[in-house]
Amino acid sequence: MKVILLGPPGVGKGTQAKQLVEYFKIPHISTGDMLREIVKEESPVGLKVREIMNRGDLVPDDLVTEIVRLRLKKADALSGFILDGYPRTNVQAKSLDEILNDSPLNGAIYLDASQQTLIQRLSGRRVCKKCGANFHITNMPPKSSGICDKCGGELFQRSDDQVETIKKRLNVYLRQTVSLIDYYQSRNKLIKLNADEPASVVYNTLIDILGKWR
Ligand code: AP5
Repeated sequence: MKVILLGPPGVGKGTQAKQLVEYFKIPHISTGDMLREIVKEESPVGLKVREIMNRGDLVPDDLVTEIVRLRLKKADALSGFILDGYPRTNVQAKSLDEILNDSPLNGAIYLDASQQTLIQRLSGRRVCKKCGANFHITNMPPKSSGICDKCGGELFQRSDDQVETIKKRLNVYLRQTVSLIDYYQSRNKLIKLNADEPASVVYNTLIDILGKWR
């Protein structure tokens, strides 16, 4: 099964993908997570990527596409994957079509939610430093404040989850990514879902949809 989770920042792509890959036993390929790993290396490329991400802009298409191309070649991704955060521009979507070539996507699931929901979700998100698990200070609070339920790691707020950067990311999404809805719709690949619903409701709907593609 080869699936894209499409949608604005904070809509719940990562939250859903993490659970879906456990259920379907396929890899979760998140360009945001892979770029954050590159940033940790503090190489010249990493420093440049950090600056772009902290501004809320998109990293250049050729760099992100090369990362995805290499990742999709790995053995665990050959029979299926959930792509989260890629593609984000029409150029990236065309590159993905070329990479996948004779083994195309089953579909792109477009998760949609109101602007108010997105800002509330992103500004309250907390992430575990150690295992990357996602929490939310009110929607999905950890049992002990600031501590990851899964591994006991420390929770932190992503540097791009400050309100001003959130607004910038939402504008970048509208300018550069929203056209992908038409891109996949015109290819009969798009399924739209209301992600304003609680995470468990969205998850159950996704299991139904993706289960048919298994
Ligand atoms: P990335 O990490 O991909 O960020 P994003 O797309 O902005 O998405 P988020 O991770 O912020 O949100 P999400 O939809 O995964 O929401 P989540 O599940 O965490 O990218 C970061 C940056 O990297 C970009 O800005 C760009 O610079 C660069 N980049 C990445 N890919 C790129 C590309 N292809 N090209 C160029 N640049 C690229 O949920 C959010 C919160 O809401 C959580 O706290 C969660 O607990 C809560 N929540 C989730 N679902 C629900 C629900 N249903 N109900 C209540 N709360 C919920």
